[in-house]
Amino acid sequence: MAAPDSLFVRACKAQPADAVPVWFMRQAGRYMAEYRAVRKSHSLIEICKKPEMAAEVTITAAEALGVDAAIIFADLLLPLEVMGLPFHFEAGEGPVIEKPLRTEQDIAVLQTHRAAELGYVADAIRKVCAHFGSRLPVIGFCGAPFTLASYMIEGGSSRNYLHAKTMMYNSPRAWDELLRKLVTVVAEYSAEQVRAGADAIQVFDSWVGCLSVEDYRRYVLPRTTELVHALKNTGVPVIYFGTDTATLLPAMKETGADVIGVDWRMPIDEGWRRLDFQGAVQGNLDPALLFADWKELKASAERILQSTAGRPGHIFNLGHGILPETPVENVKNLARFVQEYSVKTVRT
Ligand code: CP3
Repeated sequence: MAAPDSLFVRACKAQPADAVPVWFMRQAGRYMAEYRAVRKSHSLIEICKKPEMAAEVTITAAEALGVDAAIIFADLLLPLEVMGLPFHFEAGEGPVIEKPLRTEQDIAVLQTHRAAELGYVADAIRKVCAHFGSRLPVIGFCGAPFTLASYMIEGGSSRNYLHAKTMMYNSPRAWDELLRKLVTVVAEYSAEQVRAGADAIQVFDSWVGCLSVEDYRRYVLPRTTELVHALKNTGVPVIYFGTDTATLLPAMKETGADVIGVDWRMPIDEGWRRLDFQGAVQGNLDPALLFADWKELKASAERILQSTAGRPGHIFNLGHGILPETPVENVKNLARFVQEYSVKTVRT
C-alpha cells in the first residue's frame, strides 16, 4: 500500500474523512487527446505490456483530471492470454476471442499456472507508485469470474449471453470448473498488483446484471466470494462493481467486498439502503451526463452528494466508464466540483 491514509482508502473502509474522494472508471481513454496521441503509434495491448508506457498513460490521466486516485492502465481480458485463450481488438467491434470456449474439453485444457507472465501490470503499478508516493493512491483491478467467463464463452461482447448461460445451465460442472480456474489465475494476478503497491483492487463484474438473483446465487456467488476473500487476504480494500445490479446488490454484498459499485439506474442512497448501509459505496453518475450542459451535470452531481452527505464511505464515480467522445473539460470540472462541494458538506 502506497497511500494508506489517503481520502480514497479511508472512504473504502467507510472511515470518516473531510471530503468525498472522486475518480472515474476509464479515466484514461480515447476521450483524452494525450491518450489518442500514444495510441497513434501503439496498440492497446502494446501499451498494457510496456510498463513505462502504461504508467505514463495512468499518471497523465490522473494528473490532468486532478482526481483522488489513479487506476492502473490495463485491460480486463489480459489473463485470458496466459490461460491459453488468445484475443485481439478489432476496430469498432471490441474484443475478439479467437477460439471461444464451447465444450467441457475446452475448459479442461485451460492453464492456471502462468499468472506470473502478467507481471508487466505489477511493474507498471510499481512505476506509478514510485511517481506518486503517498500523494495519490493507485487502484489495481481484475475481472470477476462471471464477466471473464462470459467473454471467454461468447467470444466477445454479447447481448443475451446465450452461449454462456447455456453452458451454465447444461454443463454446471464445467461452468464451475471454469470459474474455479479463473479465480486461481485472477487471485494470483491481483495479489501481485498489491505486492507492487496497489492500494485497493476493483473487481469488474460489468455484465453480471444479466442474471436473475437465483442464478447469481447458484452459479456465480460462491466462486466470486472465494475471489473476494483471497483479495481481502492481501490486506487492501476490495471494490466490487457491476451494472444493472439493483436486484443483485444484497447478494453482491455477501461476497464480503468492502465497497460496492452501483450504476446510475437507481439513486445511490437507495442502493446503499439495499446494502443495509454496511460498508462503502461507489458511484453513480450516468456517464451520459458528461455530455450535458454544466448546469444539468452539476445539479445531478449535487443530488448524489446531497443524498450521501454525512455518511462516511462514499466514493464519487460514474455508474460506468467514461464514453469515448466525452468532453474532457466536463470531466475536470466535475472532479473539482465534487472536491469543493463535499469539503463543505461532509460531517466528520
Ligand atoms: O479505467 C481506466 O482508465 C483503466 C483502463 C481500463 C481499460 N479497460 C482500458 C481500455 C479498464 C479499467 C478496462 C476494463 C475493461 N476492459 C472492462 C471492464 C470495465 C467496463 O467498462 O465495464 C471490460 C469489459 C474490458 C474489455 C474491453 N476492453 C472492451 C469491451 C473494450 C472495447 C471497448 C471499445 O470501446 O471499443 C476494450 C478496449 C479498451 N480497454 C479501451 C481502453 C481505454 C478502448 C480504447 C482503445 O482501443 O485504445
